[in-house]
Amino acid sequence: MVIAITGASAGIGLEAARMLAGSGARLSLCARRLERLEEISREMGVPTLVTRADVGVPEDCRAFIERTIREFGRIDTLICNAGYGVYKPVEETSAEEVQQMMQVDVVGTTECIRHCIPHMKGNPITNGWRGQIMVISSAAARRGTPFIGVYSGAKAAQLALSEALRVELRDFRIAVTTVHPTPTKTEFRQVAERLGTYKLPPSSNFIKTQTAEEVARAMVKGIVRPVPEVWPWRSAGWGLSAGTLVPRLMDRLMYRYYDGVLRFNGKR
Ligand SMILES: NC(=O)c1ccc[n+]([C@@H]2O[C@H](COP(=O)([O-])OP(=O)(O)OC[C@H]3O[C@@H](n4cnc5c(N)ncnc54)[C@H](OP(=O)(O)O)[C@@H]3O)[C@@H](O)[C@H]2O)c1
Repeated sequence: MVIAITGASAGIGLEAARMLAGSGARLSLCARRLERLEEISREMGVPTLVTRADVGVPEDCRAFIERTIREFGRIDTLICNAGYGVYKPVEETSAEEVQQMMQVDVVGTTECIRHCIPHMKGNPITNGWRGQIMVISSAAARRGTPFIGVYSGAKAAQLALSEALRVELRDFRIAVTTVHPTPTKTEFRQVAERLGTYKLPPSSNFIKTQTAEEVARAMVKGIVRPVPEVWPWRSAGWGLSAGTLVPRLMDRLMYRYYDGVLRFNGKR
């Protein structure tokens, strides 16, 4: 299999790359930190192509996909993983910050997908599918969360566009899968705190913190047998989906979390 992963220099993308290399996949990885990717490619033990790309730049997305096709001839699975968030209340988030987050998390995802689809449509059908697009969204896609409101919006947009795409690509036997991790131990927190104005408590009574390995393991399962949604912590999937029917109750639970974060930051 040829698997292309955006944002593979750290965290979930890197862990998924390691696991998929272990099962013999040929990998095409991109991120902004090329030196990290070059180091990673040396440890992989399978043919690994690395490309410097900022997915917030549409031309970089096109170049990443085209280079993968040139070198490997096809893409079986595209994993749109690159993304980031900012820990800030919505009111404090500037137009530029909103635009940049949407540019990377949403436009970066659609641009990689857009350039990949025409190639995937030409793949032969294997095990029922021509290919798969996997989008690393978030549990926050199903319920907007205080202090990551704009990020939740970007992740909800990824979910919505993937749902539409899954139907649009059904006739072509291209699977579309969204992945919904709860907070995961990666560099995500450092980035979100550096760009933001709040710190979030390292653990919470409401939601489980996962390891990148747990998320990557669930992703691999979703590649072996494509499903619409992968929830590495299943209870979050059920709980948040049921919560959409009782928004007032969810608001009350979220308010308790919000209050806890304010106290943690010494603001209450
Ligand atoms: N960690 C969590 O709590 C959590 C929970 C739910 C969902 N997620 C989602 O999971 C995905 C991976 O996050 P992570 O937790 O693994 O975070 P991470 O450790 O910070 O890794 C993010 C990866 O994305 C790359 N990246 C960021 N901006 C990029 C850009 N503009 N262009 C290209 N690559 C870029 C980074 O590489 P460079 O810096 O080298 O470019 C890095 O490889 C994200 O979409 C995130 O929203 C994370």
